[in-house]
Amino acid sequence: MRPPRTFLRPLAVGAPAPVTEIPVKPSRMIHFFDPSNEKMAAKVPDIAAKVDIILGNLEDAIKTEMKEAARQGLVDIAKKTDFGETQLWTRVNSLDSPWVLDDLTTLVTEIGDKLDVIMVPKVEGAQDIHYVDRLLAQLEARAGLDRPILVHAILETAQGMVNVEEIAGASPRMQGLSLGPADLAASRRMKTTRVGGGHPGYLVRTDPVSDDLTEGRTTAQQDLWHYTIARMVDACAAHDILPFYGPFGDIKDVVACEDQFRNAYLLGCVGAWSLHPVQIDIAKKVFSPDPADVAHAKRVVEAMGDGSGAVMIDGKMEDDASCKQCLVMLDLAKALAE
Ligand code: GLV
Ligand code: MG
Repeated sequence: MRPPRTFLRPLAVGAPAPVTEIPVKPSRMIHFFDPSNEKMAAKVPDIAAKVDIILGNLEDAIKTEMKEAARQGLVDIAKKTDFGETQLWTRVNSLDSPWVLDDLTTLVTEIGDKLDVIMVPKVEGAQDIHYVDRLLAQLEARAGLDRPILVHAILETAQGMVNVEEIAGASPRMQGLSLGPADLAASRRMKTTRVGGGHPGYLVRTDPVSDDLTEGRTTAQQDLWHYTIARMVDACAAHDILPFYGPFGDIKDVVACEDQFRNAYLLGCVGAWSLHPVQIDIAKKVFSPDPADVAHAKRVVEAMGDGSGAVMIDGKMEDDASCKQCLVMLDLAKALAE
């Protein structure tokens, strides 16, 4: 987890404090709900108690004729709900849509004191973040908010991927990035038709064990998103913000969902989106360090003393670099325990 961040400049003329500490909170899952769906909205207080982040979705998956109802629904829910330690986020409509200006204006004015992060979809470059940053600064100043609302960008176009580094560093408001595999697949003209996860055709075969090429081969499905996640993780680490895997649309396939989440966790992501309550528990399990890994990390850190030199533990050489990896594990365990 990253250390508290520091704003080095006022966010708006007249902003109360030029330096603002942003605490890092557990962020293992971003749980999506549709604020225009009354049944779902009624469950928000219960769900909020179980998740690290709850997000009122205004973008894709909300029908055109329900866009305003979703925005107003989110305002109503936010006003009457105590979210406790759970973060409240929203995903606004894309910057080229007819709804986003009202999304931002209404939400910051009405519930800006409750909103932690605004997720911006289909971000293509730093200019998109600069636009949102300036608008938020103006709206926050007008609403008299004393806490900056952070920004999270979804990487879901080829252009956004090409510009991932400048997006990650575009503003001190940047909280993190998510991979949006469904839109990204379309933008890249991949030949998938699903929301995240693998594809049964994307395989590698092992070498045959005999000259008969049909014999003795096994296959393993590859992670379609490995390259993208790794690029996103590097950009986030370089700019001290948090990377997330996005949605996994096959709700029934809990095994593949867990595999995809775990691949993302091992590559450096702190969390993933959950689209259904069943995915909340998967994310909690996957993005919390395994107690055996934590115990091992403790042994290594203790054995390394001041961190210099090398030690042998269970026949394996450990040094400064493995000690640093162990500290990452221990930091995460500590942050989640607090
Ligand atoms: C998410 O928005 C995606 O497109 O995968
Ligand atoms: Mg999308």
